[in-house]
Amino acid sequence: MTLTETFNQPLRITVPLGERPSEIWIGAGLAENLQSLLDTAGFGQRRFLVSNPTVWKYYGEAIQHVCGNAEVILIPDGERHKTVQTVSRIYEALIRTEADRASSIVAVGGGVVGDTAGFAAATFLRGVTLAHVPTTLLAQVDSSIGGKVGVNHKLGKNLIGAFHQPTIVIIDPLLLETLPRREFRSGLYEIVKYGMIASRNLLDSLASNTKSIFARDPAVLLPIITESCRIKVDVVTKDERESGPRRVLNFGHTVGHALEAVTNYRRFRHGEAIAYGMLAATDLAVERGLMADRERQVLTKLIKKLGRLPKIDDLSQEQILETIRHDKKVVNGRLHFVMCPEIGTTSIVDDVTEDELLQTLKRLHIGKVENG
Ligand SMILES: NC(=O)c1ccc[n+]([C@@H]2O[C@H](COP(=O)([O-])OP(=O)(O)OC[C@H]3O[C@@H](n4cnc5c(N)ncnc54)[C@H](O)[C@@H]3O)[C@@H](O)[C@H]2O)c1
Ligand SMILES: [Zn+2]
Repeated sequence: MTLTETFNQPLRITVPLGERPSEIWIGAGLAENLQSLLDTAGFGQRRFLVSNPTVWKYYGEAIQHVCGNAEVILIPDGERHKTVQTVSRIYEALIRTEADRASSIVAVGGGVVGDTAGFAAATFLRGVTLAHVPTTLLAQVDSSIGGKVGVNHKLGKNLIGAFHQPTIVIIDPLLLETLPRREFRSGLYEIVKYGMIASRNLLDSLASNTKSIFARDPAVLLPIITESCRIKVDVVTKDERESGPRRVLNFGHTVGHALEAVTNYRRFRHGEAIAYGMLAATDLAVERGLMADRERQVLTKLIKKLGRLPKIDDLSQEQILETIRHDKKVVNGRLHFVMCPEIGTTSIVDDVTEDELLQTLKRLHIGKVENG
């Protein structure tokens, strides 16, 4: 493992949510200071590091080296293990070793580890202190922020959950060095989303630094991750329980979620499906005259620049529509969509018809007519 010597001046963002404000620390090499960061944040002496074998293979030794006394709980890798059964295994490890209310959980991993360990932290003894050390790009800019934790049920994704704010989130871009390129790219699409809903600068930066971004150059990644975190924090603090403003984070997610569901969550990484979803949402907006075509081009070009997406022309348009119909985002038969009239701005449109959406799917070659 190569956590380096570079301990740049870390950046701190305070998140005024939950009972006590939590802090997000962002800096290259921060993971090397995990122990002292937890000490300063007031974590008790019994700390349980929850991770998975994939992440632990790369970073376990170094992290245990700095967190000498922490106990380690490894859970199996993969979305299919984001279940109550896995949470139950975490409880078991905690109970067997007589963890108490002063114990804490430190989730070291991607969104799956964060959501699962976070849910255990939210519920064990009615809640123990939680830290996130996100190790995927998606987790660094999205899932570790906002306090949503939870697991899947066999009948649906993320059906069981809670809000539990981490006391501290420690974001170290050096941990991304080992992340497979496709996972990394999947996280980039969520950053594209932040750019679309809140920051043209962010999009410009993704477009002009693509090469160094893929090279995981921390100097380039740091400002991009920081800006993304700021945007997410901004949105969630306005709306902790997701009643209104937080909906803008769903930009690209109506069609994106449907694409994931009709392919049984096997074909796309989440961000890839969202990339298509953003293209669909902008197409709808352009067709309605809400967005200028040159704004759409910015998104289209950037998505192209970031690499190839999985194929979609074989899916069934009817199935995609059916899935969206059953999605939470349909109210009284009208589809709700987050649109970006201009890059960096949002507007919620609540009267998209199925036919409009079907025309968009056709124009983008998303799926085909059954038997057609
Ligand atoms: N709580 C929220 O607000 C929120 C928001 C968005 C997504 N999510 C959830 O996040 C999950 C997806 O998270 P994800 O995309 O991070 O996937 P993931 O956690 O499955 O990680 C992807 C893969 O990368 C591996 N990995 C992680 N870090 C690595 C590293 N540094 N080097 C090498 N390999 C590494 C993992 O072991 C895994 O195999 C989904 O379950 C989703 O529902 C939650
Ligand atoms: Zn998403």
